Amino acid sequence: MYDFTTLRPRRGIGASKWQPLERAGVADPDVIPFSIADMDLITAPEIISALREAAEFGVYGYTSMDEAYRSAVAGWMRRRHGWEIQPGWIINAFGVVHAVGQAVQAFTQPGEGVIFQTPAYPPFLRILQATGRTPLSNPLLRGEQGYTLDFEALEALCARPDAKLLLFCSPHNPTGRVWSEEELRRVADICARNGVLLFSDEIHFDFIAPVHRHTVLATLDEQTRDNCIVGTSASKTFNLAGLSTANIIIPNDTLRRRFRAKTDGYTGGYTGYFGLTATRTAYEKGEAWLDALLVHLDGNFRLCREFLAQRFPSVWVAPWEGTYLLWADFSCLGLTPEEQERFMRDEAGLFLDEGYIFGREGAGFERMVLACPRLQLERALERLDQAAARRGLPR
Ligand SMILES: Cc1ncc(COP(=O)(O)O)c(C=O)c1O
Repeated sequence: MYDFTTLRPRRGIGASKWQPLERAGVADPDVIPFSIADMDLITAPEIISALREAAEFGVYGYTSMDEAYRSAVAGWMRRRHGWEIQPGWIINAFGVVHAVGQAVQAFTQPGEGVIFQTPAYPPFLRILQATGRTPLSNPLLRGEQGYTLDFEALEALCARPDAKLLLFCSPHNPTGRVWSEEELRRVADICARNGVLLFSDEIHFDFIAPVHRHTVLATLDEQTRDNCIVGTSASKTFNLAGLSTANIIIPNDTLRRRFRAKTDGYTGGYTGYFGLTATRTAYEKGEAWLDALLVHLDGNFRLCREFLAQRFPSVWVAPWEGTYLLWADFSCLGLTPEEQERFMRDEAGLFLDEGYIFGREGAGFERMVLACPRLQLERALERLDQAAARRGLPR
């Protein structure tokens, strides 16, 4: 019923993800990028209609969240995440990354420590470097079954007097981990005991694999609710990243006031006209489309897992629990990270996110966005197989 097969090549429209292909002069219609986390899939038809209507209206003045918007966001949180929020807890932002930067500035001082788990979504480290905060890395532990948190190391980092904030990614980009309630409780408890505030970046929370269950951090208990900021957005879920709209949810009044004191100064509380329309429509009318998309994604993950198990049996693939990101260790190919990048791009025609950009722990890995039509994915995997065969690479 929904269209997850049509590819819209995004050349010539400033699409960040497609620009490396343009620069490399790749004209082959079968080659698509699998890097930056947006989807090469057309969004829900309900959203396209609402945006068309909004475009035809022709007056695009200043826009701010209204009650209908807030209640659409609250309805989504209740229905999809079992989270009862008050409409006044929502703060509008141009993006979750932008909000992370503002939270870092609102709740920490230059030189103070901010903890994050590595491998990490690259903007976390960039924000800390740009704002002069001390990055405190808490590497994940990797076992055959996947990644786990290093609670002992986290406890030690949180106990440092300069540690003020934990940037927590849940579900985790790039590893695809969906943290269990038990794991979240331990993290929340360590932070609370040590006076460390939590920014829970839950932008991927609508992409949960079958049998897994995501828990919004703020739903654990009152103490945690009052010690966290939750970053959410319809942008990943409905492919709206270019509309620059996110919802930052802060249940605690004092924290919310402090955050707003920082953000309102810059934004005046305004938000984008199209982002507002698209987000509200997504949350009011997009559920059936999302459920269909999750089935499509499950199929793409199965395809990749089976393909890699057969043709690249030495490649370790992180179990898919959430997000639309495949995270796989290709170090068995025996290439340096730079050689691996060149091999993927120039020989296999695969534009991926190289693991090393997520930190030292990611070297040898590739991150691949699987939110795309199946045909282009199948062709990409075949190219990988042929390129490895041509080179005689170990796998
Ligand atoms: C963990 C995480 N946070 C934030 C973002 C980006 O959010 P925004 O576009 O709202 O700034 C991404 C995008 O990939 C992400 O993976």
